[in-house]
Amino acid sequence: MSQAYLYLGWWLNLDNGLPFLDLRRAYSHYGDKIEEAVLKVLKSGVYLNGPETESLERELAEFVGVNHAIGVASGTEGLHLILQALDLPKNSYVLLPAFTFVATCEVIVRAGLSPYFVDIDPKTGNISLDALRDTLVKLRNKGKKISAVIVVSIFGNPADLINIAEFCKDERLYMIEDICQAFGAELDGKKVGSFGIASATSFYPTKNLSAFGDGGMIFTNDFFLAKKIRYLKEHGQTAPYYYEYHGVNGRIDEIQCAILRVKFKHFQKELLSRERLANFYSERLKEFYPEVKLLKTYIGSKPAYSLFSVRVKKRDLLKSYLERQNIPCRIYYPIPLHLQPIYRGLEFKEGDLPYTELLCKEILSLPFFPYLGEDEAEFVVEKIRAFYGS
Ligand SMILES: Cc1ncc(COP(=O)(O)O)c(C=O)c1O
Repeated sequence: MSQAYLYLGWWLNLDNGLPFLDLRRAYSHYGDKIEEAVLKVLKSGVYLNGPETESLERELAEFVGVNHAIGVASGTEGLHLILQALDLPKNSYVLLPAFTFVATCEVIVRAGLSPYFVDIDPKTGNISLDALRDTLVKLRNKGKKISAVIVVSIFGNPADLINIAEFCKDERLYMIEDICQAFGAELDGKKVGSFGIASATSFYPTKNLSAFGDGGMIFTNDFFLAKKIRYLKEHGQTAPYYYEYHGVNGRIDEIQCAILRVKFKHFQKELLSRERLANFYSERLKEFYPEVKLLKTYIGSKPAYSLFSVRVKKRDLLKSYLERQNIPCRIYYPIPLHLQPIYRGLEFKEGDLPYTELLCKEILSLPFFPYLGEDEAEFVVEKIRAFYGS
């Protein structure tokens, strides 16, 4: 099969009509500063583990409100390194939502652990605490060992982090946060990524704070965990050419960090634009209720919208209609993880996670990024209005 779908330009619809996300617009605002920063690294001769990485780590640790930030090769690598460093009992269960990107689960398998899917609250798209409680009881009754929960704040909408953190503490489980879609979001005045034992974000080009390639960062308050992760991401090397762990090459590079530091200066402003655009869409889409429903946020939460996703009853019909009008829409995610071929062996079947399955049938992401004009968003709304014939 052709892998043309991996071409990011196609996915973002850069080549015809309204873009789903156009990264060139951000570049046109501060590209000169990025070019300067890249050139400085090129001329410095230091391409890895240098001052840009160190500064970015310091700046982002302060922003998230944790003691340690560790730059890594990607969000996936970040999640994997956390699991590896925690040294959880082999084959013990790690609970996670099935309504997430595959990487959240892939790392569990890679770390020699057993993933187990938990249903979501369809109103928010995030893992449900009630379902988490039920799953824990069910697995423990079967004599299974559960060691951790990975909580994803999907689309940038903070999950029920305070209550889940308390639940994990009571049940002696590690809570790991996957904040790959939610960097910059807050709950009760605290940044997501600071609620569990550790968290990982992604700098994939489409993310809130994004690199010009791959990258990621781990956040934690745990000194020993941070130290071990630093060893693990450098092949397990604890002293020059001396290896105490089976590690990986999990580094981020200096050029990406230099770019990220320039972009971070514009991050708050871009977050505000995301919020403004999300409010703009939300206000206007209310007229289509109950055909179109907005996702709910928890009280006290401040989402960092990475995507603007809504629930639509006739989702596929609306999507085809909008695409015929040259308005790209995307489905995150069409098939939940528990029904993916790769996870067949986990013995989940259709109907096991009803709310997850429902959301996969209804969810639709509209064109959304900080530099999308309100006129463009209005055009999207007009076409939705035309679809509903009013
Ligand atoms: C929820 C979630 N987890 C993990 C990842 C993996 O991040 P990366 O692409 O940087 O490996 C992503 C990014 O696509 C994501 O959206």
